[in-house]
Amino acid sequence: MGSAPPMSGKFFIKTFGCQMNVADSERMTALLADKGMEQAQAAEDASVIIINGCTVREKAVHKALSQLGSYNFMRKRKGGKGPVIGVGGCVGQLDKENLFKRAPYLDFVFGTDTIDNLPEIVHRVENGERHVIYADFDKSMDYSTETKIHGLKAQAFVNIMKGCDKYCTYCIVPFTRGKEKSRTIDEVVSDVAQLVAKGVREVTLLGQNVNSFGKGNSNTANREPAELNNVIGKVGPRAGEENFPQLLRALDTDPRCAELKRIRFTSSHPLDFSDELIACYAKPENGGVARLSPHLHLPVQSGSDAVLQKMGRHHNIESYIAQMDRLRELCPDVGISTDIIVGFPTETEEDFQQTLKLLDRLQYDNVYAFAYSSRPGTRASKMQDDVSASVKNERLNHLLQYQNVIAEKLYVGRVGKVMEILVEGESKNQHMIDKNGIDPQTARVWTGKTGCNRVVNLISRSPRNLLGKFLDVKITAATCLSLHAEESLGQEILE
Ligand code: SAH
Ligand code: SF4
Ligand code: F3S
Repeated sequence: MGSAPPMSGKFFIKTFGCQMNVADSERMTALLADKGMEQAQAAEDASVIIINGCTVREKAVHKALSQLGSYNFMRKRKGGKGPVIGVGGCVGQLDKENLFKRAPYLDFVFGTDTIDNLPEIVHRVENGERHVIYADFDKSMDYSTETKIHGLKAQAFVNIMKGCDKYCTYCIVPFTRGKEKSRTIDEVVSDVAQLVAKGVREVTLLGQNVNSFGKGNSNTANREPAELNNVIGKVGPRAGEENFPQLLRALDTDPRCAELKRIRFTSSHPLDFSDELIACYAKPENGGVARLSPHLHLPVQSGSDAVLQKMGRHHNIESYIAQMDRLRELCPDVGISTDIIVGFPTETEEDFQQTLKLLDRLQYDNVYAFAYSSRPGTRASKMQDDVSASVKNERLNHLLQYQNVIAEKLYVGRVGKVMEILVEGESKNQHMIDKNGIDPQTARVWTGKTGCNRVVNLISRSPRNLLGKFLDVKITAATCLSLHAEESLGQEILE
């Protein structure tokens, strides 16, 4: 871990990619703010600009690099006296010093394992050093950290593990995030307890594959379940090691976390989505974890066994459906979501139809779909990328429209119901106020999420600040993307 003296000036972080990068940006913000720097509202106001980039698809890399170009252009407009600029995240980790070749004007590069060095890096660059780079993987066997948040927050991301050992054939993440390592249960529970003491009421436990949390940590506290019975096969933590259901139960029962209201997690792999984890979704009186949100993101990637096999996913559709059926049996209101890749090498129209059939069968609330993008160094990059760009796009659009019809039906089914939401901020949809004939002087539209992870736009008639509040709201309308709700007058505020 590096050290840096107190610092001044303003920084701006532009984040691309998944929640892992979002959580990392929050950590960068907290680290720089701790040193005395201020967060700028816009890149134009900053003396330090950081791009936290994603490499999961080629398009993502282009986005980060074109953003870099436009920041450099902004600096040129300021006569070269503008901010120093750095690139971090998965882009920094993967491309390292090559980034200086591509963009010689870039001042610094850092990776996913060197975020804590950021104040030191910025200090060195501000003192005139150029091309400062910290992008090695941390080679130590253990993973220990403390979550850092900036300001008051009701919701926080908590990294519980890092890396990925799954090596799906298309995926670059194992190369940008390194080998799997888990924090200990004791450390995570104490960490969440300190967040709860700061006002956090909802945590999302983060990892590329949280189901395999605990692999390599010995279960010295003899927590239950001692061993996992995976639906598909014996992978992930073994008997005598810590595991993810133990962590959920430890968080749910630790008195220091009593004020925590919701526990979420992402992301999961079907291969080690165990019976014991499914059992955590049961009602508390039936042995479930009381504060586990009724939501699951379980990426399936394709509805075709042939494609799944080529993707190196090591499971089939029948076993995936069996997992979801068991989950719904225990928790009928669970909201489910998934990731799909269309146009993987050799994917036929018949394979694609099987994916649509799976969407019909499982009725996801949300599907995140992507066109396959060949990534250098992955096993799939050696297969012929034989589905044309236009067919990939057609399939992607078709799938998204198909899913919209499913989601809209599910969402409309919620109209008239009362649901609890955590308000996460003001909505971009302030225009909803005019439409509803409410006094725009006092009313505001807020956005929040239900326990099952549906986005709710809430019209509040009063000017009070609802940020971070848990509210019971009545659903008044629905689209395929979100629910609309109105706060009733005199409504009880739960938190
Ligand atoms: N660890 C997470 C996913 C990380 S990447 C998990 O397994 O759930 C997020 C999603 O990006 C993946 O689920 C996959 O759907 C998509 N993805 C990954 N590599 C891709 C590629 N080469 N082309 C297109 N989509 C990809
Ligand atoms: Fe990538 Fe597969 Fe690991 Fe997810 S589980 S990060 S898709 S290699
Ligand atoms: Fe992208 Fe890295 Fe996440 S490659 S998807 S930001 S782990």
